[in-house]
Amino acid sequence: MYNIPSSIEDEYVVVRTIFYSPAETNTLVSCYLYRHSRTSQPIMVSVLVPEVALRHGNARPMPAVGMGTAVAPAMLEKAREAVLAGIEVGYRHFDTAALYGTEAALGEAIAEATRRGLVASREEVFVTSKLWSTQCHADLVLPSLRESLRNLQMEYVDLFLIHWPISLKPGPMAFPLKREDAVPFDFEGVWRSMEEAQRLGLAKAIGVSNFTTKHLDKLLAVATILPAVNQVEMSPVWQQRTLRRYCAEKGIHVSAYSPLGGQNWAGNDNGVLESPVLAEIANARGKSIAQVSLRWVYEQGLTPVAKSYNKERLKHNLEIFDWELTEEDHLKISQIPQNKTVKATYVFSPDGEFTFVDLSDVEVVEE
Ligand SMILES: NC(=O)c1ccc[n+]([C@@H]2O[C@H](COP(=O)([O-])OP(=O)(O)OC[C@H]3O[C@@H](n4cnc5c(N)ncnc54)[C@H](OP(=O)(O)O)[C@@H]3O)[C@@H](O)[C@H]2O)c1
Repeated sequence: MYNIPSSIEDEYVVVRTIFYSPAETNTLVSCYLYRHSRTSQPIMVSVLVPEVALRHGNARPMPAVGMGTAVAPAMLEKAREAVLAGIEVGYRHFDTAALYGTEAALGEAIAEATRRGLVASREEVFVTSKLWSTQCHADLVLPSLRESLRNLQMEYVDLFLIHWPISLKPGPMAFPLKREDAVPFDFEGVWRSMEEAQRLGLAKAIGVSNFTTKHLDKLLAVATILPAVNQVEMSPVWQQRTLRRYCAEKGIHVSAYSPLGGQNWAGNDNGVLESPVLAEIANARGKSIAQVSLRWVYEQGLTPVAKSYNKERLKHNLEIFDWELTEEDHLKISQIPQNKTVKATYVFSPDGEFTFVDLSDVEVVEE
């Protein structure tokens, strides 16, 4: 393994090699080898990231760890630098959303990485974006996706998700949401437009986020193209066994957001990074709690999407593919008390009232 220089100038070119990993069915191992363009000397090899084939849609295989980009408020230059650092250390899977305000920074970073030769072309990265709730109406899906693509400077996203099973009156994007703005979700109309997005090639695959089995039941009743992915909060402290079983039966891949316990925007404790059980396992394995959590997610067959804007931590969070948790570790983790951070009550501001829907229609917690 070569050391990764702190900054890469345009004189390096990347050569990508792919191997099949015999131990892991349905995954590929990819290796990014950088050579000096004049001397052809190898400069560095970034971390090996396996890939997962999605069962629905036409997307290329999804790298098994994604880099999250959400921060509040959005910091464009920091986001751009962080994505470039992420590409340097081996990330090829990036998560954004219309709501985050990071689409433009992500697009600029990928364009710059292509100019510098860090990636051969845009096709080498897997980009997810999401439809915000104010656009969750049949006639607003395609205009919203086209706006995301303009921000990203891209012809297509690899994956386009409905951000929440919540539809709000059309209007400006804001967070938290107003209860009185929630309107009944037109599952059929919105999903038809998502399917159209895939047919037009604007999204290689389509999916959902924060959907419970109840929401998925409603969606699958009308879907002609099944969702490729359900992106939900998932970590050792919120394991969602029922949802995972359901998604596995339908061939819906689950990607795990807030796998490090999230960014504690509400000022709550971090159940993952402060878990004594994970700390004990981390000590025994010579790893960090963050790595144990990410490895646990990966060993469940799920794809963690973790955010860091720090190059060292970005690299550290990818170093989870050359070791394993033991059966005993899994048993201990299965007994961790469960607690979900992101609930509908957190997403909606406390004042106001639901006029058109019940809280139960928009709640994303299920035991
Ligand atoms: N679909 C949805 O509704 C939804 C909801 C939430 C999030 N997401 C997506 O999922 C991504 C990840 O979730 P998240 O941002 O909520 O939380 P997360 O990835 O669980 O945690 C991010 C926090 O952990 C810190 N961190 C990163 N690596 C670390 C390490 N090795 N050790 C200690 N701390 C570390 C980060 O700080 P530094 O940056 O300083 O390293 C950041 O404060 C988001 O960015 C977003 O793309 C989607």
